[in-house]
Amino acid sequence: MTVNGSVLITNVRPYGDGEPVDVAVTDGTITAIGAGLEAPDGAEVLDGRGGILLPGFVDLHTHLREPGREDTETVASGSAAAAAGGYTAVFAMANTDPVADNAAVTDLVWRLGQEVGLVDVHPVGAVTVGLAGEQLAEMGMMAAGTGRVKLFSDDGKCVHDPLVMKRALEYSKGLGVLISQHSEEPRLTEGAVAHDGAIAARLGLTGWPRAAEESIVARDALLARDAGYRVHVAHASTEGTVELLRWARGQGIEISAEVTPHHLLLDDSRLETYDGVNRVNPPLREERDKLALRAALADGTIDCVATDHAPHAAQEKCCEFSQARPGMLGLETALSIVVETMVGPGLLDWRGVARVMSERPAQLVGLDDQGRPIAVGEPGNLAVVDPDAQWTVAADELASKSRNTPYAEMTLPARVLGTVLRGTVTHR
Ligand code: NCD
Ligand code: ZN
Repeated sequence: MTVNGSVLITNVRPYGDGEPVDVAVTDGTITAIGAGLEAPDGAEVLDGRGGILLPGFVDLHTHLREPGREDTETVASGSAAAAAGGYTAVFAMANTDPVADNAAVTDLVWRLGQEVGLVDVHPVGAVTVGLAGEQLAEMGMMAAGTGRVKLFSDDGKCVHDPLVMKRALEYSKGLGVLISQHSEEPRLTEGAVAHDGAIAARLGLTGWPRAAEESIVARDALLARDAGYRVHVAHASTEGTVELLRWARGQGIEISAEVTPHHLLLDDSRLETYDGVNRVNPPLREERDKLALRAALADGTIDCVATDHAPHAAQEKCCEFSQARPGMLGLETALSIVVETMVGPGLLDWRGVARVMSERPAQLVGLDDQGRPIAVGEPGNLAVVDPDAQWTVAADELASKSRNTPYAEMTLPARVLGTVLRGTVTHR
């Protein structure tokens, strides 16, 4: 079980502001911030090397593959990857085997995460039994279990039946939980493996049109309006989705959204090699989608970054493109991609990084111990970042059990120097 720890983090600049200070965490809680602090009794020391101190990151979209595909990721290996990426809380998606559509599975995932103790692993509950999209799962039982499920999703599949989605939203309102929708109209994506554009057409790949995502986003916004309750858009990938989010917000509809690091950085020009590592749902889109997503994250139209960390075995990725499983690793590279696409070009400052990587995601699911201000009396869930680091991604050196990173051999800016969960150093 995770226990509260004590640590002295030296020589860091909270949010990148001002002169370097030390931050003392005693028994899990920040107890002092200032120059030249003494280490609390029994504390570890984490040398911040003049880096930036941020609240620990919160990922609303992680696939940990346990139970069922422990050959590709486990709660333990995924937790290590998360800690290495600066995360102190992750939400583990329900598309495991068995599916997390009941409290026995969601409670198990929570307990495994607490035993590992590197990051809080919050289980996501399925919206429908078996992710089949027909019968609502026992959402109330999962919310009331020890796993305290706060987020529900059929991710990997869309809750495409509008009546089922309407009922799910009504239940989520009663429970005060959030539904994250994988927006994909299945009739429009039968056999689809790549963005429906000129490149897929030339390469002979079946296209996944923008409208498959946008039609569900629009429909769900209207269902949320009528339910008088919020809905969350997982992995927003198109310019049109951004426009719909703006429209819905303008109507006073409570709709939130996340964007993945890979949709901020990569586009369908990557498909030319037919390398299965580039297959992902929703697919890598075009330059203009990428730019619209960046602008939307900067202005708050998109609330947060979520990794959609999706580990797959080598034999599931190193094969014919249309046979490759969709999904990419993300936890260990997310911060660097956000710096590359958002901080470098001046679209976000470090306060903005704290907002999109930690504060907003924690607020969206009602986590009261994450995404908190760096201040005395607040929980010691923190990440130290070296903003000037340059590193080259080596797939073999990742903590994840899988190797399907699209960034292999790429040199990226900024690196997580250390991560602290309730005063315990979980990565350095
Ligand atoms: C995810 C997976 O592998 O579980 N794959 C993906 O391409 N994103 C499922 C999902 O997030 O849709
Ligand atoms: Zn998805």
